[in-house]
Formats: sequence, structure tokens, C-alpha cells
Amino acid sequence: MKVELIGAGETTQVYESKASSRLLYSGLKEGADVPYECATGTCGTCKVKRISGEFSWLWAEAPARALLKSTDDFLLCQCAASTDLKIEVRSKLKPLKAVDQRPQWLTGEIYAAATVAPGVMTFSVKLSQPISFMPGQFMVLEFAGIQGGRAWSMTNQAKFTDTLDFVIKKKPQGHLSDYLFEQENVIGLKANLFGPIGKAVYEGELDRDLVCIAGGTGMAGMMSILAAFIASGAYLRNRADVFFGVRTPADLFFVSELRQFVEQSKGALKVLVAFSDGPASAELIAANPLLTFDQGFVHEVAMRVMEGQFTPKTRAYLAGPPPLVDGALRMLLLKARIPATEILYDKFG
Ligand SMILES: Cc1cc2nc3c(=O)[nH]c(=O)nc-3n(C[C@H](O)[C@H](O)[C@H](O)COP(=O)(O)OP(=O)(O)OC[C@H]3O[C@@H](n4cnc5c(N)ncnc54)[C@H](O)[C@@H]3O)c2cc1C
Ligand code: FES
Repeated sequence: MKVELIGAGETTQVYESKASSRLLYSGLKEGADVPYECATGTCGTCKVKRISGEFSWLWAEAPARALLKSTDDFLLCQCAASTDLKIEVRSKLKPLKAVDQRPQWLTGEIYAAATVAPGVMTFSVKLSQPISFMPGQFMVLEFAGIQGGRAWSMTNQAKFTDTLDFVIKKKPQGHLSDYLFEQENVIGLKANLFGPIGKAVYEGELDRDLVCIAGGTGMAGMMSILAAFIASGAYLRNRADVFFGVRTPADLFFVSELRQFVEQSKGALKVLVAFSDGPASAELIAANPLLTFDQGFVHEVAMRVMEGQFTPKTRAYLAGPPPLVDGALRMLLLKARIPATEILYDKFG
């Protein structure tokens, strides 16, 4: 089916999409400038308007459907074309940059896994073929028997690899996380993966001081970004202030990896862990002299600690539950006066 996008400023783009394919994924595969954020039906960023043609819903209960005002409005990530389609997109359509890796469908198998905190699991997937991805990007993973895909950010970074590392949190009544945490052994489970996608990426060549604010598994993409910050040598000219929020010391993970980043950066990278539900124990503080500990909501702690320390080169990365990301966004825009173009985020909801 032919899909014609009509964007602002009389920009147009055309791509092909099969009857069973999500219009967002077909567009991304073909290099179209289709709008998106979560790619999984919750944020509403991929909302577009039908000018002509027919579409069908693949997941009619998608939460972002509540944001649509007319029956001509639909979500590119949750709909497929039934006929040729002409669609209105609110933004101006830009050509894809030549360096961008186009996402694709891949298959993979979990070959390693570990529980790193109560209800938090890391696992690694071996892909059928290597891919390139940018630090901060994510994949959508589908497992047999579970409807729909889930977005998970890679924690590793590599120019070209057939191994992707993830960290996931068990969500109460969450379909896929429940399924994975109920397995006696997840090793050998096969998945279909679409990606890499995501715009909250780290471009090492840019001269930026990083402020990373993450809650829980929001730390996933940050680990990839920080690994690239070290590996690219950016720490020799830039600083990185990392704020990691979890509820209690028992919920903490990636401690040794974060310690290693601090060590490797020779002081350019600082990590503060904020506990929302209580203070750090004396033992934890004593065992981790390279990390700082504080108490409170991580975005509030970050703003307090960073007061007067934002630089004209600051770029902020935010990830985690929507209330954290929204709170941090507001504070960075209104109090710290960071330009919107320098705040990149992934809302995990
Ligand atoms: C950009 C991004 C990156 C993320 N990275 C991580 C990460 O690194 N680690 C992590 O733990 N979490 C991450 N998340 C959250 C993750 O995608 C899941 O929401 C979470 O793992 C809970 O999944 P669940 O199946 O247990 O919960 P559920 O509540 O069952 O489902 C969660 C989401 O899956 C989608 N979904 C559910 N049912 C269907 C269906 N029938 N058809 C289509 N879609 C459906 C919806 O988007 C829904 O909100 C990320 C989210 C986003 C948007
Ligand atoms: S990208 Fe479609 S709802 Fe978020």
C-alpha cells in the first residue's frame, strides 16, 4: 500500500506499508520522517489525520487513543493501512540524515540473564545479525504469546554488534514483565525485535556537558550513553553529572558499573544516588566512596545539587516514569533555562 505523508510547509514523503504492518515501523524502515516517541501506543506523539484512504487498528485499546479527537485521527504506531493512504502530519517533514541507521525487524534469543535487585532483571540477546545503534536508543521486543511489543533501551554501547543488553523492571500486573519474571529460566527465549529507534541519543562528537536524571530502569539508556562518554574520550573535555533515583538501597543496581565509570573518567563524571523512601545506610556510604548519596525525589535532588552549575554546553537526558520526566523537564526549562532542544528524554509509561 502507498502511504503519502503531507507535512507542514507543503513537505511530502511517500513510502510503502504492508496491510499487516504498523505504519510507524514501515515508515521508519523506509527512512520517512514519521513522528514518534514511545513507539508502543502510550504517548500520542505519532498522532496523524487521515486525508483519504482506510486504516485498521492493531491495538484498539492503546492508551494514547484517548487523546484523539476525531475518527480521522489515528496513531501511526498502532494502525496499519487497509488501502493507499494520504495522511496529514503536523510537523515539517525532513529527509533522514545519511548517517542514521535505519531500523529493521530482527530475531534474537536470550543467552544470559541475572536478577540484579528485587524485581529487576538484566538480560542479553544474541541477534541473528549485527546492527549499529546510537547510545540511548531502544528496541521494541515481541515475545510469542504476548500481544504487542515493549520498548526497552539498550544498556551497552557498540558501533556494530550482535549482542544487546537490557535491564527490565517487573511492573505490577504488567503482561510481559510478569511473563518473564514467572519463567524458571529465560535463557533460550526467542524474540522478534524492531529497531534501533529513539531520539534521546548521545552524539559523542558534540561538545556537551551531560546531566543525566534517571529513575529505576530509566538508567538503562544512560548506561549506554555513559559508556560512550568514557569510550569516546569526551570526559577529557566535558563533565557528566548523573542522578540515579530508586526507592530504597535494596532497589539499587549497576553500582559497580557506575563506580567504574567514575574511576575511568578521572573525576569528570559524578554519580549521585537519591533514595526516595529513606536514607542510605552507613555501610553503603562507606563501601562506595566514589558515589554520593542523598534522599528525596531524584529530579528535585538533581536541581538542588546542580544549582549554579549548569553550563552553556549542558545537555540533559531524562528517563524513567512519566512523573519524574515531566517534573525534571519543567524544572530544567523554567528554572535552569536549558533550551528545549538540549533536553532529550524517554518516558517509560
Ligand atoms: C522509549 C522507552 C524505553 C523503555 N525502556 C525500558 C527499559 O529499558 N527497561 C524497562 O524495564 N522498561 C522500559 N520501558 C517500559 C517498557 O516498555 C514496558 O512498559 C514495561 O517493561 C512494562 O511492560 P509490561 O508488559 O510488563 O506492562 P504492560 O502494562 O502489560 O504493557 C506495557 C506497555 O506495552 C504496550 N502494550 C501492552 N499491551 C499491548 C498490546 N496488546 N498491543 C500493543 N502494545 C501493547 C503498551 O505500550 C503498554 O503501555 C521503556 C518504555 C519506553 C517508551
Ligand atoms: S509513538 Fe505512537 S503513541 Fe507513542
